[in-house]
Amino acid sequence: MRAMVMLWAAMAAYGADAALVAKGAAEERKACVGCHSLRISSTQRLSRAGWEKELDKMARWGARIAEREALVVYLVEKYGDDKPVEALPRSADGVGR
Ligand code: HEC
Repeated sequence: MRAMVMLWAAMAAYGADAALVAKGAAEERKACVGCHSLRISSTQRLSRAGWEKELDKMARWGARIAEREALVVYLVEKYGDDKPVEALPRSADGVGR
C-alpha cells in the first residue's frame, strides 16, 4: 500500500508515464464513444477516486473497459481535479449548442 502511494505521488510529481497515457487515450476511443461524446468527460475535472467511481458507474451501465488502469491514468492526467477547466465553445449568440 505504501509503495502504491509513493508510486502515485511520484507520478503526480513527474507526470504519468507517457506510454500508459497514450494507451488510455486509445482505450477511451474504444470504450467511451458508444453512448455519448467524449466531451462529457473532457468537461469534467475529477480526482483519481472520482474517475474510478465514474468508470464503475459506466461499467454498470454497460461500458466494456479492457485497459482500465491506463484509462484511469489518462483521465487523471488530462481531466484531473488539479487541471484548469477549458473555456467551452459557444455559439455566436452565447446560448450554446
Ligand atoms: C453503455 C453506455 C455508456 C458507455 C459505453 C459509457 N457511458 Fe458514460 N454515460 C452514459 C450515460 C447514459 C450517461 C448519462 C448521460 C447524461 O447524463 O446525459 C453517462 C455520463 C457520463 C459522464 C457524466 C457524468 C455522469 O456520471 O453522468 C461521464 C464523465 C462519463 N459518462 C464518462 C464515461 C467514460 C470515461 C466512458 C468510457 C469508459 C463512458 N462514459 C462510457 C453511458 C455510457
